[in-house]
Parts: sequence; structure tokens; C-alpha cells
Amino acid sequence: MPEGGFQEPDFFTDHSVLLNPYEPLKDVRSQAPVRQMESHDFVMVTGFAEGTAVLLDQEHFSAVIAAAGPTAPLPFVPEGDDITDQIAAHHGEFVGHETFLSFDGPQHSARRALLSRLFTPSRLKANELYMHDLADQLIGDALAKGKCELMHDLATPYVTYVIADLLGVPEEDRPAIADFLAAAPLPGAVDDADAGASLAPLAEKIGGIFAGYIVDRRANPREDVMTDLATARFPDGTLPEVQELVIIAIFLFAAGQDTSAKLIGNSARFLAENPDVEAQLRADRGQIGPFLEEMLRLEGSSKVTHRLTRKSTRIGDLDVPAGKRVVISLSGANRDPARWEDPDSFRLGRPRVKEHLAFGRGAHTCIGNPLARAEVRVLFDRLFEHTASITISEEHHGPAGDRRLDYEPSYIVRGLKELHMELTPAAVRAEPKQDDVSVS
Ligand code: HEM
Repeated sequence: MPEGGFQEPDFFTDHSVLLNPYEPLKDVRSQAPVRQMESHDFVMVTGFAEGTAVLLDQEHFSAVIAAAGPTAPLPFVPEGDDITDQIAAHHGEFVGHETFLSFDGPQHSARRALLSRLFTPSRLKANELYMHDLADQLIGDALAKGKCELMHDLATPYVTYVIADLLGVPEEDRPAIADFLAAAPLPGAVDDADAGASLAPLAEKIGGIFAGYIVDRRANPREDVMTDLATARFPDGTLPEVQELVIIAIFLFAAGQDTSAKLIGNSARFLAENPDVEAQLRADRGQIGPFLEEMLRLEGSSKVTHRLTRKSTRIGDLDVPAGKRVVISLSGANRDPARWEDPDSFRLGRPRVKEHLAFGRGAHTCIGNPLARAEVRVLFDRLFEHTASITISEEHHGPAGDRRLDYEPSYIVRGLKELHMELTPAAVRAEPKQDDVSVS
């Protein structure tokens, strides 16, 4: 019999939880915002203050399992109150150890610094111009048909091509890379939870292409982003191995593709179900940014991240021994009533909404967050420019109030598998007649 009659939801195998994770998260939080789970040996944090504290605390928590997830076995048996040396000795055996997300402290910051030249304001500005044109083109294609399956026709190709542009991938190679990425498994599949978010399958498919770019740019430097990446050095002046840069480039796709595409889908669904909000944004597109922040809080596409307790400590009121895996429920923290007033309601312009944890917090805060925010904002801006309305296809998803919508079977990613939409073009603006043009 479960403790106190509480039936613990299973976030890994129960498909009904995928459809609505928020009620089960509320149930777990009402037991305790930091809870030792019964069905799995990890601590789940659903409180905002507690989750933030863990993410900010690098002394007691390691990100080594951030990608591996909470169910993959540890490659060693934790010993004592401080397992720092064990983590270091076994780092290479963790799922996802290749990505810089899995490193801590100076090793992490040295790798993260390699990307500093990609995310400069001027580079992001240039990337934004590309987003604008790309969005126009993809929306134009969808409008020609009057409908689209938003996730595959628009959101996924859009975000993949934007990252390809940011990295300076030659245009002729982009379609092949996009095809590989579209076929890649989603991180955190509930039916294969131990696989976590390994980069190995992707690295196998497209690693060679990126290694080619980096070797070429080192031999023949050019004025392009790939050269910046290929020639970037660690803070101590050493040049990274080619493979290290290849993994970083692939990781940008892996970390930024599904997350951004699913945010587009979650936001489009919300707008189609809430025409009053859609009308507000159409009337004042300056509200798209605040709208997206509230969507990130309510329906952020990364539900969780994970940490391994490095030194015995406390989280909230719970003692946590070294070696304990901790699941930080970003979705739970973002709806914690102790932090957010009326947390399940949508409020445009909610005060300090940008404090949500949708992009994490602390040393590993999403490095792509300015890009993600810009690309989704630009896409909706262009969608409003070119359409008079966007509606969910009743043929595919049923009528309002009785929709059939499938969410991805992932405990990490929150997002729709498909979203069929009908698009009505914006009224064609009349060209001024010759007589109307005043000539001075
Ligand atoms: C809506 C879109 C996105 C969401 C919700 C999101 C979410 C997150 C979260 C929660 C983390 C922190 C993980 C942790 O602390 O364990 C993270 C890290 C990261 N994200 Fe994003 N992300 C998004 C888009 C992107 C994009 C577009 C890129 C790149 C082009 C990107 C690249 C990264 C990288 C490289 C990290 C690791 C940072 C580090 O370890 O220092 N993300 N992301």
C-alpha cells in the first residue's frame, strides 16, 4: 500500500502523465516540494526555491547526470559524504559525458567559453535577419496549401536551419543535416528511459561532416562562423581536439532543436485555443515576447534536468546523501504556488515572469536562450504578418473542447507530436492607385 494512501505518479512509463504532467506534479508537490520518490531511487524537486537552490549550488551538486537522466545506473558505488573524486574518475562512463553540459566548474566554463564567439550580439543580429526570411519562406509554402502540420512542415525545419545558419553550415549541406536530425530519437524516451539524452547516434550520423568543416577551416581560415569555432581556444590558450568541437556543434543541434520546435507547437496550440490572446498579440506584436515568457513558464519544452549530489547536504527540509540523484522538475517549479500567484493561469504581462526556470539557472543556464527567444518571436511575428487566422484542424484533432492531441513520449521534452493547422491568408493590401499618389 503506498505511504499515506498517496499513489505516486510514474513520470517514466505512464503515458497519461505525458498528456497532463501538471496535475501529477501538483500531487507530488503537495506531498513535499522535495521528495524521496518510492518507485525510483531519486529525489524529486518540484518547489521553485528548492529547484533554484540546487541549480545554483555547484559545490554540492554535479551536472554529470544532466543528460543521462535519473534512471540510468551510476558507473560506481558512491562511497562516503563526498564523491567528487569518484565522479572525476568515472566521468567518461556516464551517458552524455561528451557534452559540456556534463562537466562542472572550470572544466565546464572552459568548454562553454568556446562558444562565446557564436552568441555575440552582432552574430545574433545577422542570424535574426536569416530567421525572418526563412520564416517568410516556410509560412509562404504552408499558405500556398492553406494548411500545414506545424511541427514537421514549419517548426522543426525552421529551428534546424536557424542553428545551421548560426554555425555557418554551407547552404548545400543543410537539407541532408536536417534530414538526419529529424530522424534522430527524442531525448528521454519513456520507453527507453535509461538511454537519457545520448549524443552518440547523432555523432555517428553527422559527426564526419562537422569534422570535415573544422579540419578544413583550420587549414584554410575564412571570414565565417565555422572558422571562429574551429580556431577557438580554451582560456589557457590550448586548441581543442577536433572531436571536442564536433561534439559541441552537434550538441547545439541536439539541445536547441526539439526544445525550440516544441515551444513553437505549444504556443501555437495555446493561441489557436485562446483567440482573445491571439487577437491581443495581432493588435500589438510587442506583446509576443511577454507572451512567450508566460508560455515558457506554463508550457516550457524542457520539463526536467538532473543533478548528482556530490557532497551530502540538505535540499529544503530533506537530508540528501552524496550519490543521490536529483530530478529538478522545471515544469513543477514554474507552477509552484509558493512562487507564482494563480500558477496554472495564463497571465500576459505577469510580473517578473522571466524568473521562470524554463532555461535552467546558474552556470548551465541555457546558452541558446537569446536565440530561442528570438527565433520563436520572429516566427510568430511573421505568422501574424502573413495570416488572418490560425486554427487547429478539426479533421485531425477533433472539435474545440474535445481535442485529440498526442504528446511526445518523453519525460524530458514537453511537446506535441503533430499539430495540424489551417491558415487563412492575411487580406491582400490594396496597392495605392495612381490617382492616390500625391506628387509634390
Ligand atoms: C525553448 C527552447 C529551449 C529550452 C526550453 C532550453 C532549455 C535548456 C535548459 C533547461 C538548459 C539547462 C540544463 C541544465 O542546467 O541541466 C539548457 C542548456 C543548454 N541549452 Fe538550451 N534550451 C532551449 C533552446 C536552446 C537552443 C536554441 C540552443 C542552441 C542553439 C540551446 C543550447 C543549450 C546548451 C548548449 C546548453 C548547455 C549549457 C551548459 O551546460 O552550460 N538551447 N537549455
